[in-house]
Amino acid sequence: MANGSSGRGRFGQLGFIFAAVGSAIGLGNIWKFPYITYANDGGSFVLVYLLAIGLIGLPIMMAELVIGRRTRQSPVGAFVEAAKDAVGGKVWGAVGALGTLGSFVLLSYYALIAGWTVYYFGQCLSWSFRGFETGGQTLGDSFGAFLGNGPLQIGFHALFMAATVGVVALGVHDGIERVTKTLMPVLGAILILLVVNSFWSPGFGEAIRFLFHVGPVTADGLLEAVGHAFFTLSVGMGAMITYGSYVRSKQSIPRSAAAITLLDTLVALMACIVMFSIIFGVDAAERAGTFGKSATILFTTLPQMFYDLPFGVVLAPLFYLLVGFAALTSTISLLEVVAAYLIDRRGLSRRQASLFSGGAVFLFGIPSALSLGAVTGMSSWSPFGDRTEGFFDTMDYTVSNWILPLGGLFTAIFVGWFLSARLSRSELSRGHGETRWFPVFQFLLRFAAPAAILWIIWAVIGGRSFA
Ligand code: TRP
Repeated sequence: MANGSSGRGRFGQLGFIFAAVGSAIGLGNIWKFPYITYANDGGSFVLVYLLAIGLIGLPIMMAELVIGRRTRQSPVGAFVEAAKDAVGGKVWGAVGALGTLGSFVLLSYYALIAGWTVYYFGQCLSWSFRGFETGGQTLGDSFGAFLGNGPLQIGFHALFMAATVGVVALGVHDGIERVTKTLMPVLGAILILLVVNSFWSPGFGEAIRFLFHVGPVTADGLLEAVGHAFFTLSVGMGAMITYGSYVRSKQSIPRSAAAITLLDTLVALMACIVMFSIIFGVDAAERAGTFGKSATILFTTLPQMFYDLPFGVVLAPLFYLLVGFAALTSTISLLEVVAAYLIDRRGLSRRQASLFSGGAVFLFGIPSALSLGAVTGMSSWSPFGDRTEGFFDTMDYTVSNWILPLGGLFTAIFVGWFLSARLSRSELSRGHGETRWFPVFQFLLRFAAPAAILWIIWAVIGGRSFA
């Protein structure tokens, strides 16, 4: 196999699970999922989401892992190598390139948001010690002022990127595996503590009812669920191909993918329980005033609500620490995609590759950092007309609505129709044994996933946009 496995890193069995779960669990679970669940009225939306995860996200994750481990390459090389005997040949490398580009762009603004969690962690620490006060401003106002402060935005973005580069530069085993193995258990412990604490909060009952009641689902909700299934599982842009390229030959891909999916889903639901228990504890009228459609609830209303709770002084900083850890283990996986490309295809050393790609991502994130109010021209730049507003929003729109669905579509089609079934079946059965369900896997990749994704793309062309 080109470039062989010599010198490439390798995950331990459990190390891979930690790294991949770390990638999957991120802002998507703790910030975006509760927000879209709230906007879509919970209940049936959650059910649809579970179906999308199981029927579309999971098969595509397995497909990515198959490509990655089979070729032992990052996405561009992986597609080129895997498509050697397929119709189209090298052209498939473009799918890998799209994913690598998408990871680069996503990381440029994901790390920026991640930086906010560091800032709020600091804020909460100071509130916890000195008492909660916002200097006469509402939290919304001070959040707005923070967003509009260019140097602060760039500074926290730089900080988060530096941490990400530091981990990736240390390598697959000594960096990514070691750090995720340390952070994920801490994250789990904090989350369990928060969930247990919410049992006693007045909003708990209503939160559970909200999450599991049966109600109508809109077509929009369906689309949103499918789109989010990709994002939350880190599939569609080659991150799982890259991590898959470091998986041991004896490890079971189906079992690992199932574990990753299950844990990611569990954490998303736990995050909902924590946040909704707090939110539903506030009476409905007040809630409507503070928590309408705002996607920024994490930074505008939640801190205050935490400090109204018993133990808030402890829980508030812990919560932002949790979000920060979740984000870091995700930014690591995004940078690894870009760095691995430079290592595999351009011959850079791991150190050079991490520094160079991290530096480039940082620079590319600057216009996003300045487009939240600091610089007017960037804050209003919108090449897609009224579909987006500002640089940050435009990047998010491009990745979430185009690159992610297209990447997922081509990955599903490639493995479903072009990669030899004998080959993917043998890859799936390594360290696993029987794969009697293989026809189901193939059916989902060939028909179900492409149909669902084409529906998304159709809606996007028609003007729909997903946050
Ligand atoms: N899954 C992460 C989250 O939920 C985000 C993420 C990390 C991601 N790596 C990715 C999304 C690769 C798509 C592709 O926050």
